[in-house]
Amino acid sequence: MTDDQRMDSGIARVLVSEEQIQERVAQLGAELGEIYRDGCPILVGILTGAFVFMADLSRAMTCQLDVQFMAVSSYGVSTQSSGVVKILKDLDTPIEGRDILIVEDIIDSGLTLAYLLDVLSRRGPKSIRVVTLLMKEREHHPNVQVDHCGFLIPDEFVVGYGLDVAGRYRNLSYVGVYDGS
Ligand code: IMP
Ligand code: MG
Repeated sequence: MTDDQRMDSGIARVLVSEEQIQERVAQLGAELGEIYRDGCPILVGILTGAFVFMADLSRAMTCQLDVQFMAVSSYGVSTQSSGVVKILKDLDTPIEGRDILIVEDIIDSGLTLAYLLDVLSRRGPKSIRVVTLLMKEREHHPNVQVDHCGFLIPDEFVVGYGLDVAGRYRNLSYVGVYDGS
């Protein structure tokens, strides 16, 4: 294997280590498990980036729950938001009267989340909360509501733990800054 075929080639530095992620996800899971102790929320993971966080977070929650996924597109293969959000895969069931927990990998501009909150709140859920692993320290869309955040991070392009650039790096166990190459 050559150096540029290594799974972490192209990573400038580790931003959040595997240990930091695991510790924080366990805390978030305990917190959320307590909030939904007597309920059965639908965890709505936003594909594809949230699949790793969803797997760890859902297993750290001790309440009953349902796992579903939605796919939305705003970025294509670029590292800049196009500003346009569309639903590529919708939920499998109605959510009327249900507790909804949106599980996001990262909030950047907040455009995707603002759109999702608008779409899902029109379907009559009992409640909607948002948990994101990462949130960039920058200005966000005014309609963004984040109830639980794993880590506030600088406004840089990051990959790993589900996050990709052009489909790569999702399998890293840590979050790293992409060096742009
Ligand atoms: P937003 O709509 O600008 O908040 O962007 C949300 C989506 O863009 C996230 O769910 C990610 O899929 C993607 N995204 C934003 N920033 C990054 C990043 O730094 N690395 C990888 N994906 C990102
Ligand atoms: Mg995403």
